[in-house]
Amino acid sequence: MRVLITGSSGQIGTNLGVALVSAGHEVAGVDVRPNSWSGAFPTHLADLTTNAHPGLGELGGVKVGPVDAIVHLAAHAKVHALVERPRGAFENHAMVTNALEFARINAVPIILASSREVYGNLGRREEPVSEAEADFRASPSPYAAMKLAGEALASSYFRCYGLPFSITRFSNVYGRYDDDLLRLERAIWVFNEQIRTGKPVTVFGAEKTLDFTYIDDAIDGLVRCLHRLVDGDPAITASTFNLAHGIGHSLLGVVKLIAETRNLPADIRVEPSRPGEVTWYVADISHARAALGYNPQTPVTTGVPRAIVEAMTRGS
Ligand SMILES: NC(=O)c1ccc[n+]([C@@H]2O[C@H](COP(=O)([O-])OP(=O)(O)OC[C@H]3O[C@@H](n4cnc5c(N)ncnc54)[C@H](O)[C@@H]3O)[C@@H](O)[C@H]2O)c1
Repeated sequence: MRVLITGSSGQIGTNLGVALVSAGHEVAGVDVRPNSWSGAFPTHLADLTTNAHPGLGELGGVKVGPVDAIVHLAAHAKVHALVERPRGAFENHAMVTNALEFARINAVPIILASSREVYGNLGRREEPVSEAEADFRASPSPYAAMKLAGEALASSYFRCYGLPFSITRFSNVYGRYDDDLLRLERAIWVFNEQIRTGKPVTVFGAEKTLDFTYIDDAIDGLVRCLHRLVDGDPAITASTFNLAHGIGHSLLGVVKLIAETRNLPADIRVEPSRPGEVTWYVADISHARAALGYNPQTPVTTGVPRAIVEAMTRGS
């Protein structure tokens, strides 16, 4: 199959593109930036917030040709950055709108990347969070609000135009093609850099517990979803999936894992969580297990050391 990936120069996009090409599929990438990680597939440079109307085989004013599906990943992906600049969240929604229009005009199924942020701050509890618990009234940030708006728009396209779609809600994906700190500060790599350089490690939220997802697990779930959506599986169409590991891990624990792997001390300073941040999340992944055969393999205690060792061999 031939797949259009938006946001193809980012972490999930690059890993997805490389995985699809390795499996014998063709990939057309679209991103506002060239891909600095891989040359496995072509990248069409386009700003997807543009008003250039999608056409037949055309998105963001560039020709991408016919495709069998679109995976829409392009976004400003940092939650706190969009608390400071909420217009970025509206830009995210403009990109979703353009991606959905491309899917409608070209009559191809679409996967939209969403986030565990849509659940807001549910507070610490025993039960994991299931897909039905998202509620726009609990939106903790402009990023989350616009993710929910994108999900709602996809539902409306399904009802108005019969457009097949799936939503994949990711949670703290880490592990490969994600340590470009100058572009995007992801917690694990910020901690790694602070520990490596002997600087104080600032953790926002002493109790913060999140569901960290190793990249290969996230990509496995996404590819499973893509195949079933393209095959027209009714259990997948218009369905939403938590793609996470399904186990919570404290941010402080992650810092300790990084320090142990590097065999260096961590001078930890704890600050309160910042506005808009989710402080507890553990995903219920039973829907993805049942419908996709999703079965994440890599717990944080294996995945974080693996990611750090790989980074150390690259000199970071
Ligand atoms: N990685 C995670 O932990 C995680 C968690 C929850 C949700 N998500 C969602 O998954 C998707 C992919 O995340 P990621 O971690 O790969 O992010 P990323 O930042 O690595 O990749 C996003 C890509 O979108 C591109 N982009 C931004 N603005 C654009 C524009 N105007 N036009 C074209 N491209 C543009 C960026 O250049 C970037 O390459 C995003 O929608 C994100 O919100 C990711």
